[in-house]
Amino acid sequence: MNMTSPRNFRPALHFTPRQGWINDPNGLLFDGETWHLFAQHFPDDTVWGPMHWLHAVSQDLVHWRELDIAIAPDPLLGMAYSGSAVLDRGNASGLGRETDPMICMFTHHGDWEQQSIAFSTDRTHFSQYANNPVIANHTRKDFRDPKLFRNEQKNCWSVVLAAGDHVEFFRSDDLLHWEKTGCFGCQENRMGGVFECPDLFPLTAPDGRTIWVLLASMTLPRELGGARTQYFLGDFDGDTFVQTIPSALPMLLDAGFDNYAAVSFSGAPEPILLGWAASWTYAHLLPTANHEGYRGQMTSARRVSLANTSGGLRLAFHPIVPAFARVACAQAPRSAWAKVPLPGEVFRLRIAAEQSFAAALSNEQGEIFRFGLDAEGRFFTDRSAASSSCFSSDFSRGDMAVTKTPRTASGPIHLDLYFDHSIVEIFADDGTYANTTLVFPDHPYTQASVFSDAQITVEALADNQ
Ligand code: FRU
Repeated sequence: MNMTSPRNFRPALHFTPRQGWINDPNGLLFDGETWHLFAQHFPDDTVWGPMHWLHAVSQDLVHWRELDIAIAPDPLLGMAYSGSAVLDRGNASGLGRETDPMICMFTHHGDWEQQSIAFSTDRTHFSQYANNPVIANHTRKDFRDPKLFRNEQKNCWSVVLAAGDHVEFFRSDDLLHWEKTGCFGCQENRMGGVFECPDLFPLTAPDGRTIWVLLASMTLPRELGGARTQYFLGDFDGDTFVQTIPSALPMLLDAGFDNYAAVSFSGAPEPILLGWAASWTYAHLLPTANHEGYRGQMTSARRVSLANTSGGLRLAFHPIVPAFARVACAQAPRSAWAKVPLPGEVFRLRIAAEQSFAAALSNEQGEIFRFGLDAEGRFFTDRSAASSSCFSSDFSRGDMAVTKTPRTASGPIHLDLYFDHSIVEIFADDGTYANTTLVFPDHPYTQASVFSDAQITVEALADNQ
């Protein structure tokens, strides 16, 4: 790799830490005025280490301001692993004095993984609860990543957490005393691996039914992609989740390899997800550490809904992005290339095609990121030549350089691609195809080109802010 090139890979419209390492988003919360994002964080190095909770706030889910670290490791109970946050309206926990406290539940990872509470009355400074842990564990190796949610059926608080090859549910009236109500996953998980960072929330299907979505990030063997997030669709009776819409193949949250540990915002007016844009397979090698002193970035925040597809009911994603304005447009007749110049390193592309097509972002140095819809009806991305440098063979040469995903819609294609320095996010077919892919070209891409056997249009749009 060219260590001397001062490339700026830091995205403008995606969260990155000021310095150090981040992985999973934690404690995603809207408090009525401000969006809060916490994250797994090691401030002292650009590799994973003793886990803290970083804290950042935003008014628009696009631009973030980093605050002081919210939670630090505990000398006795261990590191602060992943977890979630809620506003304790009515102060059932009693931790709020005169206000509604913000309550974070997270895993203390020490000799054992146990669930603990940190709380804040000003939404900025956090204290650890004196009687931690609130869900103790002295028998199981994997027992982590609690996601708190309000349980309207039973009028209580609930938590779903990862317990090895399944998830478990617990209930509480005061967020401090918990009892187990159910478990899910031992039979239904078809991917193997250990569950991490689960989440559970309801969505309304196109026919008006309420469907519960259980998200589960999975640690997988390298040949299966290392780390992917799958989801299950079903029902929640207030105690446990039951899968009512089985699928022959595991349903994946993202067609790309760079969306892990995604969870939803608590307290949001509509369901919104945000994930860690990396894969455990190569996250510690990403080439942002040398010049820019950080490693790790988040995906865009995405509205999530349910849509009918030819494969059945599936999640659909619509990213929350600032306004973009059209700066270039090109149309090609049958079997010709249409090309547009790219307006810098933050842009959006809109492609309208009648049928299969090939597209690319490229520069004069020969670096090229390819994507499109192939003749077999599969959306594809290919970053194997996206950069002339190679910091990880898994990233740019092996199976993880290419994705192929069968289309689950028919008719003309409308595809949106968002590019922000080092992250590509592609959405098509009303959001039922979503692909998050990191790329680190040594030189900025300067041109987008598209080609099809039928007519095709490409528009380039620039960030308007
Ligand atoms: C998922 C994960 C979690 C754990 C955290 C540690 O990426 O492994 O299960 O809490 O990262 O940083």
